[in-house]
Amino acid sequence: MKRVFALAAVLAVVFAGAALATEVYVGSCIYKFDDTFMTGVRNAMKAEMDAQGGTLEIVDSQSRQPLQNDQVDTYITKGANALIVNPVDRTASLPLMEKAKAEGIPIIFINREPDPEVMKAYDKVWYDGAKAEESGTQSGEIIADYFKANPGADKNKDGKIQYIMLRGEQGHQDAVLRTEYSVKALKAAGFGLVELGSDTANWDKVQATDKMKGFISAAGIENIEAVLANNDDMALGAIEALKAEGYNTGDPAKFIPVVGVDATAPALEAMKDGSLLGTVLNDADNQGRAAVRVAVAAAEGKPVTRETVGYEITDGKYVWVPYQKVTKENYQQFMK
Ligand code: GAL
Ligand code: CA
Repeated sequence: MKRVFALAAVLAVVFAGAALATEVYVGSCIYKFDDTFMTGVRNAMKAEMDAQGGTLEIVDSQSRQPLQNDQVDTYITKGANALIVNPVDRTASLPLMEKAKAEGIPIIFINREPDPEVMKAYDKVWYDGAKAEESGTQSGEIIADYFKANPGADKNKDGKIQYIMLRGEQGHQDAVLRTEYSVKALKAAGFGLVELGSDTANWDKVQATDKMKGFISAAGIENIEAVLANNDDMALGAIEALKAEGYNTGDPAKFIPVVGVDATAPALEAMKDGSLLGTVLNDADNQGRAAVRVAVAAAEGKPVTRETVGYEITDGKYVWVPYQKVTKENYQQFMK
């Protein structure tokens, strides 16, 4: 028995040695550290690089694109073998790609998708993220299913859903497409819609509470039938405003269905206590892992393929990590 363990240990060392990426130094910039979902991605990136044995440095771009541009320059000066960049402004990814291209350094953009022109202009640029449309559709379907199962949710019995939309950062593909596709999904399910209010709250919980309070005073809480938020932090911010009115605290007569996206830990807790109807898993673990694997493979000069990184590579450039509906039936399996 002992011998078997010893052999296994030797094999593990040999395999790890073969896979060791000790010489690989990857530099990463995250648009801002103070973002719940991106913190999950960051942690997954660190864990994967620890497993790979290379070096990963991650810096906070503090929502400032000029700062991020300097950070990329610094990584290049320091000899980074690959870059993982979560752009502050995704329309600024062109100059970042050009900096990498000038030095022949692989660059992997994450979470904020560059224009296809940027992706086509260099053979060592990749994008790792998720299809925003999918999350929009799934969050709309969660609300649609709720209205089908609970006809009383149509409080004014007009056959339409009076809703509030809380949008993410202006220009972010996830904000634009989640908004569009959640509405499309509700229409496809046969619901008429009346938008009582829609505004950006920049992915932020506090801003969402403020905006929601404004919508409640303008529309009257009794007239609001649903809240769609482009992410969980904003959904939870909206719930704070509802709770201040005595809603979503357990009284079934005072409940407004709220849906978010991300499946963050606090959102799953809110599903457990019943204040949040549902969310959509934005898979931080797989997005973080994929980013590091692509960076390491590219830094080592290997082809970036399903075989080398363990993820499907679409058009040679894109890793699309699937979203998943999170409802009261399955939320427990996402709790860590
Ligand atoms: C989205 C996520 C948001 C926010 C944003 C940052 O994918 O749902 O919560 O993290 O990315 O770019
Ligand atoms: Ca109605």
